[in-house]
Amino acid sequence: MIVTVTVNPALDKTMILKKVSMGEVNRVETVRNDMGGKGINVSKVLKSLGEPSLATGFLGGILEEVFRKELKQLGIEDQFLSVSGDTRTNLKIVDEGQKEYTDFNEPGPEITEKELALFHERFKSLLFEGDLLVLSGGLCKGLPKDLYAILMKEAKSRGVKVLLDAEGEALTYGIQEKPFLLKPNEKELAGYLKKETLKREELLEAGQKLLEEGIPLVLVSRGEKGSVLFSQEGIFESKGLKVSVKSTVGAGDAMVGAAAYGLRKGYGAKKLLAFAEASGAAAVAKEGTQAPSKEEIDHYYIEALEQIEEVL
Ligand SMILES: Nc1ncnc2c1ncn2[C@@H]1O[C@H](COP(=O)(O)OP(=O)(O)OP(=O)(O)O)[C@@H](O)[C@H]1O
Ligand SMILES: [Mg+2]
Repeated sequence: MIVTVTVNPALDKTMILKKVSMGEVNRVETVRNDMGGKGINVSKVLKSLGEPSLATGFLGGILEEVFRKELKQLGIEDQFLSVSGDTRTNLKIVDEGQKEYTDFNEPGPEITEKELALFHERFKSLLFEGDLLVLSGGLCKGLPKDLYAILMKEAKSRGVKVLLDAEGEALTYGIQEKPFLLKPNEKELAGYLKKETLKREELLEAGQKLLEEGIPLVLVSRGEKGSVLFSQEGIFESKGLKVSVKSTVGAGDAMVGAAAYGLRKGYGAKKLLAFAEASGAAAVAKEGTQAPSKEEIDHYYIEALEQIEEVL
């Protein structure tokens, strides 16, 4: 089984307007509601690929039932813990005229000590040897900054491989526990190294160092510039695919979902990178946070594979 953790899910509400006027009443043209959160998005990609997954984390408030109903509908096993706080809504405002995108992200619920203890119990009961665990997204209030490191330790002791997609302190603590696959984007990796940006050479050096420190697969995504996979089989670089971009939201999650699928199927490094890259490209070619379909990923796969080069 592939287990995804989303500690702070969010209903992504996208409002599309011709023009946004602050301080005035605005008429909204179109509204989209997407059940989101990084781990859930990964589960959706796995679903598209026909791979079962189980999703856990915290849900509460009026959105709890909405999420549970949709998870059920999608066929994603729901192992979320019910909490007293409210699952958040993240508002995305699109001004079509100005081509301006504004996000308002709520903090999400505060998790109590008792809820966290219950979560640990639930978490331990869900993992079995040979499973894959996906830890992705930010933490919410009340959770220790090293939560992912703690969960990773538990998972590894049970023979479960971990994929980590986090930023800031959660990433720094997580790296210390050595996940099986780490997926930072370029900016997150720069942040980990306390730098603003990374030149290609610096990125190659940083990835190699993480590999030497004992993380078997380091996948650094670089948006339209593609991605680099550091592995024991070698370092492979994808220069990125040319696609007509609709929405870059969730591109990283599509990549992580595809990587988890590839690991499950025993793909080698080059194939894994091509599949992850194809999934990222397929995701940006779609509106909102919709998961790409298997057909859409397959469509980009051959091209992705052909343009990968080994970095020597
Ligand atoms: N503009 C783009 N054109 C083509 N492919 C893209 C583009 N943006 C992203 N991708 C694909 O998606 C992958 C992941 O994108 P990115 O590096 O932006 O992830 P991320 O920052 O983690 O995203 P997220 O916001 O989902 O966390 C890239 O490696 C690439 O394959
Ligand atoms: Mg990301």
